[in-house]
Formats: sequence, C-alpha cells, structure tokens
Amino acid sequence: MSRTLDHAARTAAPAGTDRSARLTAAWDAAWNLGDVHALDDLLGPSYVRRRGPAGTAQDRAEFKTSISAVREAFPDLRTEIEDLVEDGDRLAVRWRSTGRHTGAFLGVPPTERTVEVSGATFARFDGDTIAEEWVTFDSRQLLEALGIITTGHAAAVDPGLVKGVHRKFITGVTVVTTDDAGTPKGLAVNAFSSISLDPPMVLVCVQRSSSTHPALHRATHLGVSILAADQLDVAKTFAGKSPDKFAELRWTPGEHGAPLIDGSSAQLEVEIAERLEVGSHTVFTGRVMSAHHDDDRAPLVYSGGGFFDISQTAPLPW
Ligand SMILES: Cc1cc2nc3c(=O)[nH]c(=O)nc-3n(C[C@H](O)[C@H](O)[C@H](O)COP(=O)(O)O)c2cc1C
Repeated sequence: MSRTLDHAARTAAPAGTDRSARLTAAWDAAWNLGDVHALDDLLGPSYVRRRGPAGTAQDRAEFKTSISAVREAFPDLRTEIEDLVEDGDRLAVRWRSTGRHTGAFLGVPPTERTVEVSGATFARFDGDTIAEEWVTFDSRQLLEALGIITTGHAAAVDPGLVKGVHRKFITGVTVVTTDDAGTPKGLAVNAFSSISLDPPMVLVCVQRSSSTHPALHRATHLGVSILAADQLDVAKTFAGKSPDKFAELRWTPGEHGAPLIDGSSAQLEVEIAERLEVGSHTVFTGRVMSAHHDDDRAPLVYSGGGFFDISQTAPLPW
C-alpha cells in the first residue's frame, strides 16, 4: 500500500490500528509541541535510531533528549510530513523541518536565522511498535544555514581573476606522497600550509581529478617533501602524469611508511586527520608524526607560474 496522508487522515485513525496515523500523531506531538513522551507508545523498548552514513545509534531515551535539545535551540520548530509510504512492516517518511535558531546548537550561538532541513526516515515495525529507524538528511544544509560551513556553489568572482591573484602569492613546491598497498604515489602540491604548532598540524589541498587522490583518500599517512632548488626535474615529474613517477628517483620510506624524496629541503610524515571536500579539491589535514630539514639545501620557489632559486635573491633588511 502506498499513499500520501492529508491532515484529516493523520488525525482520524484511532491509535493502535493504523501505523501511519499513529506515527504522524506522535511526531506532531513530539517535534511540534515538545511532548516527547508521546513517542513512548510508538517506539518499542529496544528501539534503535540510526543516523547518517556511519549509522550512529540512539536509543529511545537519547532520541527523546535530542528532540528536546533541538526544540530548545529552535522553539518554533515545525516538522511537516511531506510523504508517507507504508509497505508491510516498513514505513518511509519524507519530512521537512523549519525553525528559527534562537538557542545555542552544535556549539553555535543563536543566529536568529530560519533554518530548514529536509530528510527521510525509514521505520521497521515489530508488531505495534517501531523497532528500528534509519534517518538520513542533508547535514550540509543544516551546517550551512548555521554558518558553520559555506558550500559557495555560486562563483562570486571571475575564476581567472582569482587565479591572477594566486599567482602573486609565492610558495615552495612540495611532493605529497603516500604508500598505496606497496606502490608509491604522489603529485606536486604548492597548496601546503602549517595549521598549528601545538599540536603540530598541517594541510594539503589535492584536486579530486588527480590520479593520486584515491590513494590519498584511502591512506592513513601521507608524506610531504619540500623540494630543494636543484630539484626542478622532480617538480616536473610530479606535476606530470607518468604512471611511475618514482622510477628514476631516489626516495626512502619514512618511519610511518610514507615515501619521502631524497635530497629534498625538508620532509614531514603526517597522520591524516580529516578529509574535507571543498569545491574541486579535498583538504587533507593531519598531525605531523616525523619531521626533518636540511639547512644546506635551499628550497625551490614557485612564483607567478615560474620556478626560482632563492639563493640567488637578495635578503631585505628587516
Ligand atoms: C608548482 C605546482 C603546484 C601544484 N600544486 C597543486 C596543488 O596544490 N594541488 C593539486 O591538486 N595539484 C597541484 N598541482 C598540479 C598537480 O601536480 C598535477 O595536476 C599532477 O599532474 C597531478 O598528478 P596525478 O594526477 O598523477 O596525481 C601543482 C602543479 C605544479 C606545477
């Protein structure tokens, strides 16, 4: 049986006889009026609610507490059931929640913004009560509405102009590597930065279209070799697409297995902490696990699309 309920159908059916109507009434009481105990007749004693791709589990008491916490942050919360499909012991609900953010939520102080989140819940009944629910919703929609992240799909500035600005920013050149089940992989990266010294954290930005990207996504560790001024050939190799960039190269596995380029100016091994998907790139953040630098090897410099030897430049008095 498949159907969409109108309001009359939701409230008309007596409790205990119609799963759709009972769910709708209990949701209305809990989500819209804050009467979370209305869920007690609907959710079985060993009820489990699984959220998100990781299937994070909540029991009935935790679910009720989380509804109260959401309602404290969004007191005018309205959850509308947009579609409801019943099939045997399964019930699928497509829902949309709207509320004004007037209380702290996820560590974010009140923004006074009206936040809208939509999602779907799949319930499995065991007799009269729900034994298990799977909930999925667009968490980016919520995080963006709260100002925690910006997806920035609309380009505000001409990308060519932005590229021109980036060319004014002088960087070194690194080779970011990983050990992919025994095969060394790597690419040239200048989007490398220190994040924190305590604890020592760094980041690298890698385009998702790079052939090294899948290996980095699988990896627990990555290597960062900051190339020396006499390693222009290495920079070119790793900026290219050769299937075996390591063939003509001397390199050594680090203490944590990441390939490190011999003769480079400095080397780090990093335990990957986060993989943040941002636009065309993934930002890998990680904790520095080993570090070496060779003060006799000046770093290679990259500026405005060209490579430079810093030892040929004059230091300015400061
Ligand atoms: C100086 C320089 C800096 C680069 N910086 C980056 C970077 O920060 N992130 C990135 O994804 N690609 C960067 N690239 C481009 C990659 O190295 C290039 O696309 C490479 O072919 C990718 O190799 P792969 O597809 O074998 O992984 C840079 C290239 C050069 C020459």
